[in-house]
Amino acid sequence: MKSLKGKIVFITGASSGIGKSCAYAFGKEGANLIISARRKNLIDEIAEDIRKKFGVKVHAYKLDITKREDVINFVKTLPNEFKNIDILINNAGLAKGFNKFYEDNPDGWEEMIDTNVKGLLYATHAILPGMIERKGGHIINIGSIAGREAYPKGAVYCATKHAVDAITRSVRMDTVDKNILVSTIDAGLVETNFSKIRFHGDEEKAKSIYKGLSPLTGDDIADAVLYCATRPPNVNIAEITLLAAQQASATVVHREN
Ligand SMILES: NC(=O)c1ccc[n+]([C@@H]2O[C@H](COP(=O)([O-])OP(=O)(O)OC[C@H]3O[C@@H](n4cnc5c(N)ncnc54)[C@H](OP(=O)(O)O)[C@@H]3O)[C@@H](O)[C@H]2O)c1
Repeated sequence: MKSLKGKIVFITGASSGIGKSCAYAFGKEGANLIISARRKNLIDEIAEDIRKKFGVKVHAYKLDITKREDVINFVKTLPNEFKNIDILINNAGLAKGFNKFYEDNPDGWEEMIDTNVKGLLYATHAILPGMIERKGGHIINIGSIAGREAYPKGAVYCATKHAVDAITRSVRMDTVDKNILVSTIDAGLVETNFSKIRFHGDEEKAKSIYKGLSPLTGDDIADAVLYCATRPPNVNIAEITLLAAQQASATVVHREN
């Protein structure tokens, strides 16, 4: 098993949900962290708590992943002790809207494509050359069951996560001779802020998504990410799909009343 002690792990979208769980999981294993998101107050609090709990170094940075120049500058100007990123966890992402395609609002499409696809590309493109130069690294993308199956009312979100799957597989091929590992973690129903954001803050609608079943948690996903990052050096986990126990596919779910 590979140790994470002293490794530098960059997690995008670490202010909430899966990204926040990953920050705690990797910090607990002794990794030094770069955590970013738009809500600086939240990542500052998380950084402070992780430093106190696990005694690791944490660099918290306000970064909107959709802003290409900001992503490039952020990577260029990282403090020396955080420059040599070993693991990139491309987690920042969102769904906006849950409507039949012909009734959907295109503003949400722009935001999903900009964040889930272009943001992931910007971060990967900015960090990968350093990994290649240092002859090693691991990119772990947070995909989704929506990248394996399309479902109704999710045309654009599903398209963005299918794109993540394609990017994962292509980049793995492009870096196969560079000692770079590329993985994707694809989850089903995870209870985070995800549904609240998808339904524009409507708590009732968000809760109904998880009603009558025990959803996955951010910690369940972080556990899979950690597994991926700690295999022996001869192993690459290409993909892991996690579903809630009462979920058989993107659309087949058993709910108890
Ligand atoms: N929950 C699920 O059921 C589920 C299932 C499969 C996959 N996923 C994927 O898991 C990932 C994390 O989602 P989550 O469930 O943990 O939801 P979440 O609790 O809403 O967290 C989303 C994170 O992404 C960040 N983010 C959003 N837009 C951003 C931007 N433009 N720039 C930087 N950061 C941004 C948010 O931070 P700020 O708002 O502070 O910027 C937040 O930290 C997403 O890629 C999502 O598609 C979720």
